[in-house]
Amino acid sequence: MELHKEIARRKTFAIISHPDAGKTTLTEKFLLFGGAIQTAGAVKSNKIHKSATSDFMEIEKQRGISVATSVMGFEYGGKRINILDTPGHKDFAEDTYRTLTAVDSVVLVIDCVKGVEEQTGRLMEVCRMRHTPVIIFINKMDREGRDPFELLDELEHKLEIQVRPLTWPISQGQSFQGVYNLYENSLNLFRPGSSKINENLISISNPLDPELEKWVPESHCCKLRDDIALIEGVYEPFERELYRDGLLAPVFFGSAVNNFGIRELLETFLTIAPSPEKREAEERMVLAEETPMSGFVFKIHANLDPNHRDRTAFFKICSGRFERNRFYTHTRLQKKVRFSSPTHFMANEKSIIDDAWPGDVIGLYDNGSLKIGDTLTEGEALHFRGIPSFSPEIFKALENRDPMKQKQLDKGIRQLTEEGLAQLFIQFGNRKIIGTVGELQFDVIKFRLEHEYNAQCDFSPLRYHKAFWVTGTNEEMLEEFLRRKSGAIALDRDEQPVFLAESEWMLKVAREDYPELQFHTTSEFS
Ligand code: G4P
Repeated sequence: MELHKEIARRKTFAIISHPDAGKTTLTEKFLLFGGAIQTAGAVKSNKIHKSATSDFMEIEKQRGISVATSVMGFEYGGKRINILDTPGHKDFAEDTYRTLTAVDSVVLVIDCVKGVEEQTGRLMEVCRMRHTPVIIFINKMDREGRDPFELLDELEHKLEIQVRPLTWPISQGQSFQGVYNLYENSLNLFRPGSSKINENLISISNPLDPELEKWVPESHCCKLRDDIALIEGVYEPFERELYRDGLLAPVFFGSAVNNFGIRELLETFLTIAPSPEKREAEERMVLAEETPMSGFVFKIHANLDPNHRDRTAFFKICSGRFERNRFYTHTRLQKKVRFSSPTHFMANEKSIIDDAWPGDVIGLYDNGSLKIGDTLTEGEALHFRGIPSFSPEIFKALENRDPMKQKQLDKGIRQLTEEGLAQLFIQFGNRKIIGTVGELQFDVIKFRLEHEYNAQCDFSPLRYHKAFWVTGTNEEMLEEFLRRKSGAIALDRDEQPVFLAESEWMLKVAREDYPELQFHTTSEFS
């Protein structure tokens, strides 16, 4: 059946990393291998081009940070690959977390000199929460980096995941020779700047094969043999099931900028990475192969032109076939909607499509009726799980600077927070609190309120440490807590009560005083 065939062909994933580890370079190499772009540099120049023409704000240009999360689809080896790009800047981490809810697997890039960095840990936390399968690519092997075994230990320790090398570097830095493919027992020799894919691929029956000495200096051969013996002794053989369950991360070594180690990574990825399978909704588990279409919105992009304030909603298809111009049910609003120009993203182009399949991400034109987390179905009331809000880290009170423009401010702040730029909490007396992961969002909000909504605001800092979503089956206790702590209680976008704690200590006290209540750091709890 067509649906099954299309599902099996799809691999939807994100490349994630701490900024500068090589995410953009690796994305570009994947696109080059896939033939989706012809020249190196296209992804970067695309970034600049995009911000200059269609997307986002002056701020992005001014600060040179890629704020956008975009989608790049291409065909490779009969597969349809969808790469969801994520902003590397930490202030936009929430955007990245949400994108991770829409992928079936992840490739994590690590800089071999720096090892596990701050953002890496946080991103992995989100992957662990969702049991997302992770492949690790250790990049920049052309540099004098850390010892590979030491890196593997650090990965296991800091990322709390079992690892298993599938390729192994032969030396590194200036004397980097290449990688040995432990999965296929082949050797790929390194030539800096090499752009061909198979140029230096040598088949070797096993690491003891004398053929090895023909290609690699003897001292490196000995070291490689010792290393492989150690790997085989210490690490369990690679088990695909463990990887699929998010318990084991295969590790690859290479150098993205030199196009090295990418083929091993990409081809193994295509073999082992999962295609869309199922997704949990509050009501039931939804299988990708079900005929009725269903999916959810995980991101909204605004057009910043104040004269055309339309938005693009990024919609992930979970089951069935999506068709252009067909009526679907918007489950939150309980109304029928249809889309005449849904778009696919192919490398750096957008094009209108007639249909799309599970795993695909399409752009839907939105005039304000779609919110993050909204579901479209063929009638069934489904609410997909796994699109939570995470507790912000910075909280500020919103103050209106122009009382004549209260309406504009209210509308603007509602729409911007619906896009997921920041979280809005409303306290008793209608005090609005904005919560973000980074300071940068406040500049973005201020700028956009002024330029798009003609509203002016100030932010005054608040001393809250974190937001905790509060639940409890003991309703009396819950009510008492909400009443007593009303100064630190606010409602989130779904009108769920949130406790704004000033410190971990305050939370500890609340937990002790109200033992039957639960305090959650995300808006979704099972
Ligand atoms: P990011 O998206 O994760 O932030 O990283 P990006 O790909 O932009 O790479 C960050 C820097 O690391 C870039 O250098 C890039 O060229 C370099 N890089 C990527 N892969 C490798 C590699 O395998 N080896 C080495 N030695 N460097 C690598 P830049 O100077 O910031 O930019 P550029 O002017 O070179 O493009």
